This record gives sequence, structure tokens and C-alpha cells, in this order.
Amino acid sequence: MRPDFDLLVGPISSLVPCHDEAARTGAALKELPVLTEAAVGIRDGLFTYAGPYKDVAGAQATARLDASGMTALPGFVDPHTHVPFLGDRSAELVLRLQGKSYMEIGHAGGGILSTMRTVRQASQTQLEEAGRATAASFLSHGVTAFEAKSGYGLETETEMKQLRALKALGERVPQRVVPTFLGAHFVPPEFKENPDAYVDLLCEEMLPRVASEDLARFCDVFCEEGAFTVEQSRRILLKAKGLGLQPRLHADEIVDTGGAALAAEVGAVSADHLMAVSDAGIEAMARAGVCATLLPGTSFYLRKAYAPARKFIEAGCAVALSTDCNPGSSFTTNLLNVATLAVFGMGMMPEEALWAITLNAAYALREHGSMGSVAVGKRADLTLWRVPSCLHLFYPYAENPLENVICGGRLAWPGERGDLHGTAP
Ligand code: NIG
Ligand code: FE
Repeated sequence: MRPDFDLLVGPISSLVPCHDEAARTGAALKELPVLTEAAVGIRDGLFTYAGPYKDVAGAQATARLDASGMTALPGFVDPHTHVPFLGDRSAELVLRLQGKSYMEIGHAGGGILSTMRTVRQASQTQLEEAGRATAASFLSHGVTAFEAKSGYGLETETEMKQLRALKALGERVPQRVVPTFLGAHFVPPEFKENPDAYVDLLCEEMLPRVASEDLARFCDVFCEEGAFTVEQSRRILLKAKGLGLQPRLHADEIVDTGGAALAAEVGAVSADHLMAVSDAGIEAMARAGVCATLLPGTSFYLRKAYAPARKFIEAGCAVALSTDCNPGSSFTTNLLNVATLAVFGMGMMPEEALWAITLNAAYALREHGSMGSVAVGKRADLTLWRVPSCLHLFYPYAENPLENVICGGRLAWPGERGDLHGTAP
């Protein structure tokens, strides 16, 4: 007879399931239920048990993992990354530290256009390999699912190459990879004098091809002074929506251009960055149910103001957190460290920050029904930490006390472990 579980994790000293039916908002974000002396059962890649250890201590399991003394959380979800990318922009870091702005560097041919040149020359395999290295780094920080985008091609074939590399990546890494089309990341040099003609190309050639090959779930736009205007962004996002891609956008990152209001108007699933958002933009997002995905790593790295997280929470918006992992404005895969910046830089409480990198991050991808929590029926993504409680993920800071990552029911990091009894799944 088949055992009850493929893998039984327990006893777990402290289990933080981060589970709810919908995204957590408002005052409920401060409540983070914890189960002590708990266990988690996994079968066919899904959680089939989460509850007291004593109730399953005698169950049959193909493999067992003892988590005594540890804290368990769902695998983290990163809802905004720019994987895959290639190239080295470390010289820009020095320029910024000397006082040049991110956009100045971009308009002088560096920034996004610098990565564009490298990515245009790379093969799909090279891009996929780069993505695999980044995915491995994400895994070592407990990230078991991440969104990833095109946006370094800025011409049809290279954008398609990036999305195909992402598809291949998703088939080869343990994590779930959720793809987004970001052809509207920057106006490429070929269209510098006529940006509207690039918007025509996006709407008439690129988006229909992306949709017909089913290469992206979302369409994103960098709606920003010096990138795409609100009018151009609206046109692109409505076209995408008509083709079955859900809108999301980089909004009010550097200047308040009304990106948050546009997100509400087009029914975007999420508006991201929002460091310069207006109060009216926050209200519009809250009314329309747009998730506020905040990226404090970008504020830190660009030495800019943090987004007003507390205002978003008070307005009743779902708040998610993300690394923005990219080679220019936030080069990191450490999502816990980003949550730490949210706590110390934006005034979020540790409980709020943990909802924001689990259930609410899954909500930012509208995948909260399938991942982001330890709950029966959800994908079995679990992280084990060598800390007595989840508060200790923030108390010593900028550490990585990660012991194990289980991804889709399999022990994915750091690989074989001495005290895993039985056959590893
Ligand atoms: O989210 N702002 C636009 N895009 C990215 C940065 C991409 C890059 O610099 O390569 C961001 O900050
Ligand atoms: Fe970004």
C-alpha cells in the first residue's frame, strides 16, 4: 500500500502557515497565526496535511524530515523580477554614488539600453543559463516562485527570445516561473525620435505574437517620465488586455505621472514601485483592488525615498514586497533582506512583511489559490529556518539562517541532508 505521505516534515517547533482565502489587508496584516509542535504532510507535490504533529506522528511516510528547533514558513514568492539578464553594470553604481541619477545614466545610453545591447547579442541558451544561475540564488534565499520579464530586447525577435528562454527556464528549475511581457521597458535607440512608432510596433506586432505563442501571462509597462507616458501605457495595456494578457505596471517609481490611477483605470492586477505615488493614486488603487507591490531594495540601492507602505495599508490595499532583481536598480535575490528593508525603512511590522512575501506576493500574481501558504491543496513549497520564531528572521538582520527549501514537494536546497530518513522525494 502506498504510504500516507511522500514526505512528512515534523516535529516543527514553529509553523507559520501564512494562509487565508484572499490577500491580507488592513489591521489583519498584524495577525500572523503560529502553530507549535506542528507537522506538514506532502503528497504528489501538494500539501495534504498541516496541523499538530501528534496527529500524524505514527503515519506512514516515504521520507521524513525532523524540524525540531526550527521555524517553518511557506516558500517565498517574488512577484517582480527582471530575470533573465546578462552583462555587468557595476560602473553605473559608481556613477550613481558620484551623484548621477538613474534616468540620466539611462538617457546617456547606459542603464536598460546597456543590458539591451548585451541581451540582443546573447543566444537563447546563454539567457537561459543566466536565468538558471539567478534562480539558484533565489532558491538559496527561500524563493520558490518568481515572476520574470522580457524588456531587454526592445525589438520583436529579442523580446521573443527572452520569453522563450523564460519558458525553458520554467521547465528546468524547481521554482514556478511566471512570465511577463515588458516590451515597453524603454524606447529603443531606433525609435528615439518617434516613440509613438515603437508603441505601434508593440501593439501591432509584438503583443499579438506574444499572445499567439502564449509566452506571457502579464503585460507590464515602465510608465515614467522619460520612458512611456500615461497615454502610451494605457494604449499598450488595453491592447494587451484585449489579447488576454493581464495588465500590471511600473508606476510612479521616480516621478508621479499618474501611473497608480492608470493601474486602477485599466484594472491592473498590480502597480509596482510607487515611491512617488500621490494620495489620490493610493485611493484609486484601493477602490479598484490593485495590489501595491513595493520594492524597498530599489529605494535603498538608488538612495531614494521609500514607498509609503503605511498609507497603502491604511487605505486597505493589498501590499506585496519584491526584490525587483535586475542589474541596474536593485541587484539582489535576497527577498528576506528586502522584507527587512520594508520593516526598518518603510515602517512595516515583521508580521506584515511576512504576509507581503508569501500570500500577498502570490496575490500580486493572482496565484494566491495555488501557492504562498502552507495549506492543504496548495503547492508544497516550504522553507525551514534555524530560528526559534519568525521574529528572529528580523532580530539578527542581514543573515540567512535558511536550513532547507522544499519546492513542489521535493527537497530542492541545499540538496541531500544527513538526517533525512528514507528516500528523498
Ligand atoms: O524596476 N524601472 C525600470 N526597470 C527596472 C530597472 C531595470 C534596469 O535598470 O535594468 C526597475 O527599476
Ligand atoms: Fe522593475
